[in-house]
Amino acid sequence: MNKAECGIALVTGASSGIGLATAQALRREGYRVFGTSRKPMPDTADGITMLICDVVDDASVQSVIDEVLGRAGRIDLLVNNAGLGLFGGAEESSVAQVQALFDVNLFGVIRVTNAVLPSMRRHGKGRIINIGSILGLIPAPYAAHYSAVKHAIEGYSESLDHEVRAFNIRVSVIEPAFVRTVFDQNGIKPDSLLNEYDRARADFDALLRDVMPKADLPDVVAGVIVKAATDARPRRRYTAGKTARQISILRRFAPAEIFDKSLRKQLRLPV
Ligand SMILES: NC(=O)c1ccc[n+]([C@@H]2O[C@H](COP(=O)([O-])OP(=O)(O)OC[C@H]3O[C@@H](n4cnc5c(N)ncnc54)[C@H](OP(=O)(O)O)[C@@H]3O)[C@@H](O)[C@H]2O)c1
Repeated sequence: MNKAECGIALVTGASSGIGLATAQALRREGYRVFGTSRKPMPDTADGITMLICDVVDDASVQSVIDEVLGRAGRIDLLVNNAGLGLFGGAEESSVAQVQALFDVNLFGVIRVTNAVLPSMRRHGKGRIINIGSILGLIPAPYAAHYSAVKHAIEGYSESLDHEVRAFNIRVSVIEPAFVRTVFDQNGIKPDSLLNEYDRARADFDALLRDVMPKADLPDVVAGVIVKAATDARPRRRYTAGKTARQISILRRFAPAEIFDKSLRKQLRLPV
């Protein structure tokens, strides 16, 4: 019998990209998988049950958790994947936009987690996997707000892991670098563009055009999520893909000055 057979998994944002690849990989691993999207979607041919959920809406979150618990009785694994990007100069976004970003990427994670934890505690076990980013480890220019929210995910996840370990629940963060999804098209666009950043924006866009075709496929991240879900002793954080691993090692061991120079060089900024 497969080790994950009968495990019940919930993946938020399973309509595309990393969430879809993760739902499929968990299904192959033997989990019964519930995926969410804000829009109604048919269940997939490979057996993923699709439910509606908007993670910015308390009632929508509670209703999807109630539905999964009603149908399956418990949730063994929660993958908090739903998320958006926001890239541009830090001063090019209004506070309202940044709040909207945090509402999905951080408060959405907290809403879903708070709704799932009581049932995990009741069952005496559970695993929560939050999708962070390498930008949760290294702040990067033109990603100040996204980087801030992914740093928040790191702090939240590690704190929570300490708290819920007593209930046999573990929390891990996955840290991908660039991943080939429609993430850049789905993200929030800055609402206060400034001419002063035109050059930097063009350079950043050119960099993305170069990097994205070579970026990791969502399956790479999904594979790491399955590992985190099934490891006997889950780690608090997992990098996903070669680039993320290299950046994480560099961040830990390179002197700050050298890291700063290397980051600017990689991002084609004057050193
Ligand atoms: N792609 C990358 O380079 C990259 C790198 C590092 C980390 N990540 C992280 O990976 C996660 C997934 O991103 P992706 O690249 O797979 O992008 P994606 O293909 O755009 O997927 C984003 C998912 O989030 C869902 N979503 C967005 N807003 C939502 C809301 N308010 N409530 C519920 N669901 C919502 C979308 O579902 P619907 O639109 O169907 O509702 C979609 O399924 C995000 O947390 C992102 O920060 C991505």
